[in-house]
Amino acid sequence: MNEIKFYSGEQIPLELHKARVVQKIHLVPIERRLEALEEAGFNTFRLTTKDVFLDMLTDSGTNAMSDQQLAAMMQADDAYAGSQSFFRLKQAVEDVLGKKYYLPAHQGRAAENIISHAYVKKGSLVPMNYHFTTSLAHITQYGGKIVELLYDEAYVIDSTHPFKGNMNIEKLEEVIHINGAKNIPYIRMEASTNLIGGQPFSIQNLRDVRAIADKYDIRVVLDASLLGENAYLIIQREEEFKESTMGEVIKLMTSLADIVYFSARKLSSSRGGGICTNCTDVYKELSPLIPLFEGFLTYGGISVREIESMAVGLYETLDETMISQSPSFIAYLVNALDANGVPMVKPPGVLGAHVDAMEICKHIPQKEYPAAALTAALFLVSGIRGMERGTMSNQRDEYGNETYADMELVRLAVPRRVFTLSQIKYVVDRMTWLYENRELVGGLRFVDEPPVLRFFMGGMEPVSDWPQKLLEKFREDFGDSL
Ligand code: F0G
Repeated sequence: MNEIKFYSGEQIPLELHKARVVQKIHLVPIERRLEALEEAGFNTFRLTTKDVFLDMLTDSGTNAMSDQQLAAMMQADDAYAGSQSFFRLKQAVEDVLGKKYYLPAHQGRAAENIISHAYVKKGSLVPMNYHFTTSLAHITQYGGKIVELLYDEAYVIDSTHPFKGNMNIEKLEEVIHINGAKNIPYIRMEASTNLIGGQPFSIQNLRDVRAIADKYDIRVVLDASLLGENAYLIIQREEEFKESTMGEVIKLMTSLADIVYFSARKLSSSRGGGICTNCTDVYKELSPLIPLFEGFLTYGGISVREIESMAVGLYETLDETMISQSPSFIAYLVNALDANGVPMVKPPGVLGAHVDAMEICKHIPQKEYPAAALTAALFLVSGIRGMERGTMSNQRDEYGNETYADMELVRLAVPRRVFTLSQIKYVVDRMTWLYENRELVGGLRFVDEPPVLRFFMGGMEPVSDWPQKLLEKFREDFGDSL
């Protein structure tokens, strides 16, 4: 429906927007990039954007905003209580997500804090398709545990399964039997499951989860941060919905959950977040926590300007043309790298392209963080800033032991409407070169390991002088190119 065919037969995504505000970015020489890595403890979170060429760290708060969103920010109603901006957002939540109660929270993890605070206690178990770093951290913070219930296919990197984010329904029922429904405060479903490569679940799967939840009287919580893209892939991949609109699919998904929460940094290309529901009990249980942790109920820690842009951004998620842009660039990137032999998570998902560091860096033991090493190496050879999504992003168990990730991935985020196709081609080029020189990449070790969410600010060092050797090979092959 959104596909534009080229006379030449070439298959490339075509931008259906124009750039009207641009920002200069800098490609600094590789010698400076090595210094920058050393200053940043080989952790791409700690780089400054002065040294970054293509920022593919995340799509969180980095999606391009529309002219309409920026315009809306100008009509913000500054008021501590009862701001009209809030009521416009509340209406947008009702129109797009179909929920009449909306509780603002300053971002996705703040919503997770509120939900965990209200429902998770020592002994609680939260089944989920897969964890996200912050959702796991909040649940464990309140004494709970999680269990991840994906099908085995989800862990197959080279897969054609259209819905790797599906919850394993048989296992879900088994977990409820073993642990008892009363110890399960809710079942969490994450749209476009982030840490396994931005992989969606199907509506049929969500219906099945709902049926089990109803049978045992357990709530369903939907993490809707990447809901738009999940809905888009449902239209693309689930036969029953191929003629449906974004609005219909989104409403159907949210109607199957009791509580929906989101990071607006992703969902609506703005900032902020929130929780919405149609259950009056839930509203009554959660609403006192908003002024405690976030701010008054009509702003929840979000600036009124952002509230306005969130409202417009929510309506814009209904536009399939807008939502398809990032997944179609990701598909281009994944397919091009795959054609060059680089192991990639497949099928292409949302949020970004995911490179299989476990396979590429087979020579690096998991205790030396192969995904973190490959992420650092890619920055060194290209100025492209990706994000480690592997063991470094895991947290240690309750006894302080390292827990090894199921997958070691380098995530190359493709925020909405930010990059051009030639920039994406540069990514293909440098990542392919790195793949062909993969033996030169070595491991990393922690020199400074924070106790919580260590990947954000942790400091590492290389286990040998491999970065210098990689630099020398780059100079050999690329001469004085940046
Ligand atoms: N849930 C999911 C699925 C997410 O991807 C994120 C954030 C959050 C919750 C937390 O939201 O950042 O607004 O507090 N993901 C970002 C990422 C950080 O880069 O993938 P937040």
